[in-house]
Amino acid sequence: MKIAMVGSGYVGLVSGACFADFGHDVVCIDKDQAKIDRLHAGVMPIYEPGLDALVESNVKAGRLSFTTDLGEGIAGAEAIFIAVGTPSRRGDGHADLTFVYEVAREVGERLSGDAVVVTKSTVPVGTGDEVERIIAETGASGERGHRVSVVSNPEFLREGAAIGDFKRPDRIVIGAEDDFGREVMREVYRPLFLNESPILFTSRRTSELIKYAANAFLATKITFINEMADLCEKVGANVQDVSRGIGMDKRIGSKFLHAGPGYGGSCFPKDTIALLKTAEDYDSPTRIVEAVVKVNEARKRAMGRKVVDALGGIEAARGKRAALLGLTFKPNTDDMRDSPSIVVAQTLMDAGVEVAAYDPEGMEAAAPMLPGVTMCDSPYAAITGTDVVVIVTEWDAFRALDLKRVKELARAPVMVDLRNIYKPDDMRAAGFDYVSVGRP
Ligand SMILES: NC(=O)c1ccc[n+]([C@@H]2O[C@H](COP(=O)([O-])OP(=O)(O)OC[C@H]3O[C@@H](n4cnc5c(N)ncnc54)[C@H](O)[C@@H]3O)[C@@H](O)[C@H]2O)c1
Repeated sequence: MKIAMVGSGYVGLVSGACFADFGHDVVCIDKDQAKIDRLHAGVMPIYEPGLDALVESNVKAGRLSFTTDLGEGIAGAEAIFIAVGTPSRRGDGHADLTFVYEVAREVGERLSGDAVVVTKSTVPVGTGDEVERIIAETGASGERGHRVSVVSNPEFLREGAAIGDFKRPDRIVIGAEDDFGREVMREVYRPLFLNESPILFTSRRTSELIKYAANAFLATKITFINEMADLCEKVGANVQDVSRGIGMDKRIGSKFLHAGPGYGGSCFPKDTIALLKTAEDYDSPTRIVEAVVKVNEARKRAMGRKVVDALGGIEAARGKRAALLGLTFKPNTDDMRDSPSIVVAQTLMDAGVEVAAYDPEGMEAAAPMLPGVTMCDSPYAAITGTDVVVIVTEWDAFRALDLKRVKELARAPVMVDLRNIYKPDDMRAAGFDYVSVGRP
C-alpha cells in the first residue's frame, strides 16, 4: 500500500520509517529542504535511537523515499498522513493549526485520486471537520470527484523510545466517520493487527479528544507526585517509596510517578494548555488540568531556587558557578522544546549564577535557547570549577559519574539531583552535600 507522510519531524519520520518497515511503500514529505537533503544524504535530522539504521535499511529496500514536492509525494497514495507541528499559538495558547490547514489545502489542490487523509498531528476537537471542509473547498471531493475520507489517528509514541512504541503500541486509536476511512486504516495497520495491538475505532471528534485526555492525565500524574515530593520534604517521608507504595496498586500503576523538575517537552506543556482553551471555548472548565498547568509552571522556577539554596541562598549564590548535566526534557532525544532546563538555567542566571552545561545530544538545539550558558564538551568540563553540580536530565551517562573526579574538579562537593538518580547515603558517604527531590 502506498502511504504519504507530510511532515518528517519526530513523529512523521519515525512513523514513515516504521510503516515502510512493515512493508508499505512510503514517501516522507517535508517543506524543509535542508531536512530532506540530510535524509537523502543518509544523515538523520533528529536524534532518536535506532532511527538511522531503520531509515537506511528501508531506503535500501526501496520502500522509503523523501521529497519536498507534495504533489509528487502524494501521487497514488491511498493514505496521506498529516504529521506537521501544532505548537502553541503565540498569545493565547490555542493549538496553532496553520501548518495543518496549509497541508490540507495543498493536499486538496494536488490530489489526483481517492484517498484517506489522516491527521496524526495532535489537533483539537473539530480540526478533522475543518480539514474536510478545506479539502472540499479545493474541489477535490466535489467537481474533481475523488472519494476522500478524513480520519483522526493520534500518535502516542515517546521520543527516545519512539520506534518500539510505534511498532508495539498499547493501542491504536482511529477516529473515522465512514467505511472507506475505516477500511483503509485497517489496511495501514494490518501488520500491527497481526501482532495483536488493539485498535480502537471511535468517532473522529472522540479520537481527537482521546489524545488530549491521555496527555493531560499523564501530566496530572507527574504533577501529583511532584506535589507529594514537596510534602515528603516537609514531613520527612521518601517520595520514591510513596511512588512504589501507590504504584504497585494496579489501579494506579507505577509509570509516570517519578518526582522531578516538572514535565516539559514538545507535547505535555502545549497540549495541556490547548485542552484548557478547548474547554474554555465549550464552556466546560477542566479545573484539574488548570491546576496542573499552574503547579508545573511554578515548579520549574522552584527547582532553580532549590539550586540557589544549595549555593547558600540568594546573597551567597551571586558570582558562583553551576554545572547543569542534561538539558533536553528527557534522555535519548535532542528535543529541547519546553525543557525544564531552560527555566532552571534562567532562574540561576537571574540570581547572578554563572551557568555551564553539558548534554550528550541536546547542545546544538540548546545553544540558541540559552545564550548565556557556556556549553561544554563533557560532564567533567562542565563540572570543573563549579560550586554545584545539578542533574537536570537523567541520561545514563550521568548515572555513574566518577565521584572522586567530580570532587577534585569542582570547587565544592555539592550536588542537586533533580532526578533522584543517586542514593542519598552513598552521596553522603562520598563526601557530598547532596540534595534531591522528595527524599530525606
Ligand atoms: N514529538 C513527539 O513526541 C510527539 C508525540 C505524539 C504526537 N506529537 C504530535 O505530532 C505532531 C508533530 O510533532 P513533531 O514533534 O514531529 O514536530 P516537528 O516539528 O519535529 O516536525 C514537523 C515537521 O513538519 C514540517 N512541516 C511543517 N509544515 C509543512 C508543510 N506545509 N509541508 C510539509 N512539511 C511541513 C516541518 O518542517 C517539520 O519538519 C504535533 O502535532 C505533535 O503534537 C508529537
